[in-house]
Amino acid sequence: MHKNGLQVAIDGPASAGKSTVAKLVAKQFGYIYCDTGAMYRAITLKALKEGISLDDAATIAQLTQATQISFTPDEGGQRVFIDDKEVTEAIRQEDVTNSVSAVAAIPAVRAELSDRQKVIAKDGGIVMDGRDIGTAVLPNAEVKIFLVASVKERAQRRYKENIQKGINTPLDELQLEIEARDYKDSHRKVSPLTKAKDAEEIDTTSLSIQEVVSKIANVINNKLNDK
Ligand code: DC
Repeated sequence: MHKNGLQVAIDGPASAGKSTVAKLVAKQFGYIYCDTGAMYRAITLKALKEGISLDDAATIAQLTQATQISFTPDEGGQRVFIDDKEVTEAIRQEDVTNSVSAVAAIPAVRAELSDRQKVIAKDGGIVMDGRDIGTAVLPNAEVKIFLVASVKERAQRRYKENIQKGINTPLDELQLEIEARDYKDSHRKVSPLTKAKDAEEIDTTSLSIQEVVSKIANVINNKLNDK
């Protein structure tokens, strides 16, 4: 075990419920929560704001090196800052969501952000969610979970979240967006979305949030009891 507890890696496709359950699991065990997707989103937001073409990998790589991304814990999970400016809500905008896979496919961006994620997680006591945590960022994590859910269910979850935020994208459009992001995230050359061999897969399609949290808590407790 690491100094502050276990490393818990939660991976899976877009809208499989990772961040919702990861936050609750972290709270239950008194662990830090880290949403690595927020880091890719932060770089995407900054690139869009600066008018950098998403094809310009070299400039986006330089931008990543020069950008400080920080988190502070919050009731709702974490607040996100780029160079000390809060972007918690801005990184969830549709234009960022639809551009982030292109930025996340740039090898130099992944190398830089995964190095930073390794530092954040080094003492353990952390629940980190993303696409490549169990395979590339924390290959020795004591707990690896791979969350999946049907595309239809994921589109419905995104639809409900959007309605609460006053966004009215039609359900079929959301389903197409999720499918496109799944495809890009699973087919990129570096660290594509894939289940680690030693990860436990949980299909959340017909499970409540609390049921998923309990399943993960059981896996963690079993590991803690083994120690
Ligand atoms: O989890 P999310 O939707 O906020 O992630 C945004 C994007 O970032 C997602 O489309 C893929 C990418 N990502 C990644 O490539 N690796 C991670 N560890 C986390 C996210």
